[in-house]
Amino acid sequence: MNLGSDINFAAQQLIAGKTVAIPTETVYGLAANAFDVDAVIQIFEIKQRPKFNPLIVHVGSWEMVALISTAIPSTLKLLADTFWPGPLTLLLPKSSLIHDIVTAGSEMVAVRMPNHPLTLQLLQTLTFPLAAPSANLFGTISPTSAQHVSDQLGDKLAYILDGGQSEIGVESTIVKVNNDDKVVILRPGGITAEAIADLIGYKPEIAIPSEQPEAPGMLKSHYAPKIPLIIGDIDHLINECESGNIAVLSYNKLYNDSRIVMQRRLSPNGNLHEAAQQLFSALHDLEQSEAAYIIGEFVPNNGIGIAINDRLTRASS
Ligand code: TXA
Ligand code: MG
Repeated sequence: MNLGSDINFAAQQLIAGKTVAIPTETVYGLAANAFDVDAVIQIFEIKQRPKFNPLIVHVGSWEMVALISTAIPSTLKLLADTFWPGPLTLLLPKSSLIHDIVTAGSEMVAVRMPNHPLTLQLLQTLTFPLAAPSANLFGTISPTSAQHVSDQLGDKLAYILDGGQSEIGVESTIVKVNNDDKVVILRPGGITAEAIADLIGYKPEIAIPSEQPEAPGMLKSHYAPKIPLIIGDIDHLINECESGNIAVLSYNKLYNDSRIVMQRRLSPNGNLHEAAQQLFSALHDLEQSEAAYIIGEFVPNNGIGIAINDRLTRASS
């Protein structure tokens, strides 16, 4: 299998117009040269992703940001100066170097400098930025390990750059400024609304997911496990299930019932950061169980818990 930590090999593949899975601190990405239309089309094909859903462009330097965007609002610059490299994505006006296929026809490009040593080093050896969605089939659970990528897409990629388990575990926070120059969160993620508020002096608005989303990845149904996921009060839901095996996804508590065939606790000590890190791998495990349903619960709705609850909601729609 074509998996390892050889940055030079990964770079050669990308220069040749091929696709490579890259580790990031949020989730693994399915990367290709963002300036190469044919390479970008391969991303959509491998991922079976609709072309109306644009891609995040990953950069390793501010020089690259200046090449792919025509301006940066001062508030977004402040956020990036504070949180980059890290789980924050900015919507910026795109330059002509970014083809419409990358942005799905929008004049705005999503830009992020990821915080993973292998991927930062890779980006810094390349002369082009990397377009990369999460490295999973459209609508399924995001990958937080090289194994997750390999299980789903192993035979379709030139290489999987293995950088271990993703540290943050949920995708980046996507932000833009609106007409009043106020920060709006289009997708909650690894950088919390509270951390942004501390910096800009007000609580940013969080856009509500809809059927006609501005960030099309905000589609209501997403991250769907193979077994239906039901979120609510776990004891109550277990009692309601008349028959069949059950899998349980809890925040910190352990549940006892003879029908439970698999259980994952996101954080036995009730730590939201650990819960975020464990979320997708717990869902990957549970969807492999023999259960008829996965029964889960929300985590406390603050900090990174908002991003976790957002993913749980969409995984259960
Ligand atoms: O943490 C992350 O953001 C990961 C890692 C790989 O960087 N990437 C990721 O990509 O989550 P993806 O494709 O799974 O989600 C990207 C989201 C989608 O909701 C997409 O619609 C939105 O970003 N997006 C990308 N470009 C956009 C644009 N030009 N305008 C509005 N939304 C955009
Ligand atoms: Mg995704």
